[in-house]
Amino acid sequence: MSITVSESRFRLDTADTTYLFQKTAFGHLESLHYGRKIPEGDVESLRYKHEIPFGSAVLYDESKDASYCLDELPLEWSGVGKGDFRTSPIEIRMPDGSFTCDFVYDSHRVETGAPKMQTLPQSTGEEAESLIVTLKDAVFPVYVDLIYTVYEKENVIARRAVVRNEAEEPVLLNQIMSYSLDLMDRSYTVTTLSGAWIREAHVVERPLRAGALVNESTSHSQHGNNPALALAVQDATEESGDVYGFNLLYSGNHRTTVELGQAGIVRITGGVNPHCFLWELKKGESFETPEAVLTYSCRGKNGMSQNFHAFVQNRVVRGDWQKKERPILINNWEANFFQFRQNSLLRLAQQGKKLGCELFVLDDGWFGARNTDTAGLGDYTVNPKKLPNGLDGLGKRINEKGMQFGLWFEPENVNDDSDLYRAHPDWAIQRPNRKPSLGRHQKLLDLTKREVRDYIVENVTKILDSCPISYVKWDMNRKVSDFLDGAFLHRYLIGYYEVLTRIFRPRQQILFEGCASGGGRFDLGQLCFSQQIWSSDDTDPIERLKIQGGLSLFYPISTMGAHVSLAPHQQTLRNTPLSTRFAVAAFGAFGLELDPKDLTPIERKSLRAMLETYRTIRKTCQFGKFSRVETGNDYTVQWQAQTEKQTVVLRVKTIVPAAQKNDLLEVKGLSPEKMYTLEQVSTPLFVSGFGTLLKHILPVTIRSYSHLLLAVNKYLKMDDYKETYRASGAQFMAGIRLHRSFIGTGYSDKMHMQGDDSAMLFIITEE
Ligand code: GLA
Repeated sequence: MSITVSESRFRLDTADTTYLFQKTAFGHLESLHYGRKIPEGDVESLRYKHEIPFGSAVLYDESKDASYCLDELPLEWSGVGKGDFRTSPIEIRMPDGSFTCDFVYDSHRVETGAPKMQTLPQSTGEEAESLIVTLKDAVFPVYVDLIYTVYEKENVIARRAVVRNEAEEPVLLNQIMSYSLDLMDRSYTVTTLSGAWIREAHVVERPLRAGALVNESTSHSQHGNNPALALAVQDATEESGDVYGFNLLYSGNHRTTVELGQAGIVRITGGVNPHCFLWELKKGESFETPEAVLTYSCRGKNGMSQNFHAFVQNRVVRGDWQKKERPILINNWEANFFQFRQNSLLRLAQQGKKLGCELFVLDDGWFGARNTDTAGLGDYTVNPKKLPNGLDGLGKRINEKGMQFGLWFEPENVNDDSDLYRAHPDWAIQRPNRKPSLGRHQKLLDLTKREVRDYIVENVTKILDSCPISYVKWDMNRKVSDFLDGAFLHRYLIGYYEVLTRIFRPRQQILFEGCASGGGRFDLGQLCFSQQIWSSDDTDPIERLKIQGGLSLFYPISTMGAHVSLAPHQQTLRNTPLSTRFAVAAFGAFGLELDPKDLTPIERKSLRAMLETYRTIRKTCQFGKFSRVETGNDYTVQWQAQTEKQTVVLRVKTIVPAAQKNDLLEVKGLSPEKMYTLEQVSTPLFVSGFGTLLKHILPVTIRSYSHLLLAVNKYLKMDDYKETYRASGAQFMAGIRLHRSFIGTGYSDKMHMQGDDSAMLFIITEE
């Protein structure tokens, strides 16, 4: 039993956590505890003591209790105008025209499974237990259902609220959050994933001080404002300390507020952004908020992440690909952009196949007049010049090569220069009296309109059903502008989810990758449909350490599209080793985003070997237990993924210091008694990187600009020193001292010859 209701107390238990609240004498829900698991028993110790209220307090009902002040109570939900002056989860114009509202206990019930949502995606909780507490306004028949679904094994509580109007007069919702949670202040650090396009999901940490901190988006979930957020005690590390995590199954305009109030209580509220939000509820109507998910771990940030990873893999991601290893793909975007023909695509696929790719993805540019990003969006007719045998012809030829075929779409947008826009200008979101604002030369289609949704569903499904497509990349390259109000954004999203449901629920065999100019819509709402999301248009592995590392706080590795592209990198000009590009992308849904003919023959050979290795570690990397390992050095990032018998460790040094010591490689989570072997994956070294330093190993001097060096570089490589050990788990956990790196005083074949931005990949296997 994960839910226990006794007297006036509600208790939710997961494997490692307890969530406890009770009904007060006035019927408000008082939070008692959310955190580590505690036994049943006297809860007096958990009650917030407020026998003498603050001098400035507004008392709820002085005649009955001269110490009962809502501002000094940790609450599960709150209203407006009755003495709680903190952020309210609800702002609603009541039937009397006032915003004053006061929600008190009305009834409750416990159910198996999660109550079905009507408009939004939700986690799959068939066998979970749910508690539904119904609150009613003290005066009007306006109700709020607080819904808690308990995911025992994953240590996650899903929360959402449904507001229902039973009054004769309509009410106007100005703000309605999915949840409100009050915790005692413990000098928390708040972590968000912030950034921008090509710089998504950078971890930003700041101490919580008095006042409110807001993490929000006023469009879709967005590059710089991921809806996820964490609260950690000050000294929490990756491995220890109390950490709370919050996220939303929502891809739209979201807001999470963390407020430290006067009474030392931290209030966290999250849900649809109230910015410009107005939603009328007539008698009998209700509004359902997106599902929020909460977790807690006393095992540090990794503990929080691992809870969320299990939850996302088990309860959010679905379809045939839910737990299947992702195919190694080659995407033609950076190889071709808009310039391609069937033959060049087939050549690219052939080369990808030779390297070990399993899926060929045709990106943008296959339809209408789409030769630049100024035309064609909205149309679905295949460009006959580029693809004389159509998509079906191309797909079949790709299949004949033994590869699967995948296709890019961007159905939510339209270019002015398109047949669709010429026929239906009114289908684009724009205000009749204003010049519309474009993003990437395109307008958004109005997905609140039934005929627009039908058009998209019809056209996309026609293509999916007429050619052998086993993968879809669904892009969305602009933010929302020229909208009516915040409620429109919410309605848009409901339309978007309906479209995805109609297209993909009957086609579970399709591997679906979401994308919004990279990671502009990386969220759990999207992951209810797409099993993975293109994390960023930035494939520079050093940038990806921050992007994928940041995302890993809340999202599992299997959900992050990660590709190897060319160096110097197209956005950062950083020239990173192929082995680093490979190793970082290996911690993701892996692929290539390049034309292999831009690699030297020896690079191609090396990449082929890397892909071969990848197939042996892919399951561990994508679905193993993932941890970030602290190295004590800001310039060394270490990650590991672990299945029962195999551990894969990635170690990247972005800056290599001079006169290096022996690095210590600590592996986590092994069995101390068992024996393991560690083998480093070969790291090819291409000779051009060494210039005249080759004199350390060759009897002759080769000039760094000579033709000879270029020729040698095309066909020959060296391999860096490869670490191998056999030892007990205890020894690996204590740390292996790695061989030194080059220090300029000579050469030994037992030294590492890599410089800045170098990666090492280790495979540890249980005997
Ligand atoms: C976006 C995506 C890219 C690519 C292009 C195509 O930028 O993020 O991966 O698909 O669109 O136009």
